Amino acid sequence: MRVAIFASGTGSNFEAIADNQRLQQAGLEIVQLVCDRPQAAVIEKAHRREVPVTVLAPRQFENRQAYEQAVVAQLAPLAIDYIILAGYMRIITPVLLGTYPQRIINIHPALLPDFPGIHGIEDAYRAKVSETGVTVHYIDEGVDTGPIIAQATVPVKPNDTLATLEARVHAVEHQLYPAVIYDLVQKNN
Ligand code: GAR
Repeated sequence: MRVAIFASGTGSNFEAIADNQRLQQAGLEIVQLVCDRPQAAVIEKAHRREVPVTVLAPRQFENRQAYEQAVVAQLAPLAIDYIILAGYMRIITPVLLGTYPQRIINIHPALLPDFPGIHGIEDAYRAKVSETGVTVHYIDEGVDTGPIIAQATVPVKPNDTLATLEARVHAVEHQLYPAVIYDLVQKNN
């Protein structure tokens, strides 16, 4: 199964997927990293693993559609089966959705539909919930909406700081995302 990973930031989820031996043995091929931020740490992580990188800064394009048309043009020759969003902080438009229908998945650091958006962990922490979690879902045109594939819960402990909660949520992401992708690879074989 050939995938492109889209990421905007640190790339810890990229790393968890790229370094997962079981996924590689099952036949996952990460054929491209697509990044919208030229300074993102994930770019170096991809270089180190010899994953080809496309960096396209949206502000160089007239609008979101033009940006995504450029992304689609880059991916077209690569015969991608799935797009895996891993901390990609942009709304996906019908340009990409129409090209890869039911083929774009995302990870979100909260139990959707609760706490969508770019501060899922912090929003749950501030809301003082006793439990939050992680969601993997298909993408649609909304922000962190779309059919849910899998969720895992994460307890919020009374003495948690935002940092300790973040670390616990990320650790669960790094387990759940490779597991979900493994199932997708099996289905595609
Ligand atoms: C992850 O926690 C991911 O769930 C989140 O961004 C972080 C990226 O971390 N995504 C969203 O909030 C999407 N709405 P990473 O760059 O270390 O993988």
